[in-house]
Amino acid sequence: MKDSYGREMTNLRISITQRCNLRCLYCHREGEASPGEEMTPEEISRLVAIGSSMGMKKLKITGGEPLVRDDILEVIRLSAKYAGEVSLTTNGVLLPDLSSGLKEAGLRRVNVSLDTLDPDTYRTISGVDALERVIEGIRSAVSAGLSPVKLNMVVMKDVNSSEIDRMIEFSRDVGAVLQLIELEAPRERINDGYYAKYHYDLDGVEGSFASRAVKIVPRDLHRRMKYFLPEEVEVVRPMHNTVFCANCHRLRITSDGRLKPCLLNAAGMIDVLGPMRSGKSDSQLAGLFHRAVESREPYWR
Ligand code: 5AD
Ligand code: SF4
Repeated sequence: MKDSYGREMTNLRISITQRCNLRCLYCHREGEASPGEEMTPEEISRLVAIGSSMGMKKLKITGGEPLVRDDILEVIRLSAKYAGEVSLTTNGVLLPDLSSGLKEAGLRRVNVSLDTLDPDTYRTISGVDALERVIEGIRSAVSAGLSPVKLNMVVMKDVNSSEIDRMIEFSRDVGAVLQLIELEAPRERINDGYYAKYHYDLDGVEGSFASRAVKIVPRDLHRRMKYFLPEEVEVVRPMHNTVFCANCHRLRITSDGRLKPCLLNAAGMIDVLGPMRSGKSDSQLAGLFHRAVESREPYWR
């Protein structure tokens, strides 16, 4: 199915909790302001089944921190029945004990947030002393055969921007792929607080990758570029980027069961959990998906 801008809907991103065991200074909370009740594994998988029947076969489970849910393995197991591919984004703190279970439950791959290799900087960014646990988690994910393991590095000026080369080496050595993410914020927050202070323009970095890469491959999703240096590094630049939005194939669902057409846009959410709990049929719920998809507008255009 396509939205009214011709964007094929192939990806579903479901937040399953807004709870988290870290408090990252940049956290965008997946665009959720004040979340209500969480969905059960059965409810989540029913939404996955509906999305999948409409073409959204690539499923991303996210949070908050999805691994803080006691029933995370059940969420993955039930959802994997309907999705073509399930991946998960985690801060990695709880991964050491969960990687193999997640793999057995049907998880294909994982993104682990890792912004720094310096323990003090890690604590400054996330509020918690957990760098070693996260690195152990990354190693456990690689050993469990989750593949690829991607490391999400949100690049921030004067915080971790000098660590990019070190992160490329670390990712290679551990058997993971680095993903550099531009700090993002909705328009109304661009001039205040952390964004103005920490936003780091990845233009220079991308230019230098482009000049030394042995191969450059664009991804369908957001037309993000993958540079092979030869180490693979993916660059995600969502801010003021019309190409990014023109190639956004993703519908989001909040942890309390609202369809959310765009990360950066707080408007236009459609409750689907309420109607599900009041007994609506799959085709009625699919109608709500259609409405959400039809309302999608590129944020930057
Ligand atoms: N800008 C860019 N990336 C962010 N993330 C969370 N908040 C922001 C932000 N403001 C990243 C996390 C995690 C992923 C889900 O999103 O680091 O890897
Ligand atoms: Fe937010 Fe993720 Fe950091 Fe938790 S780990 S505070 S959800 S960015």
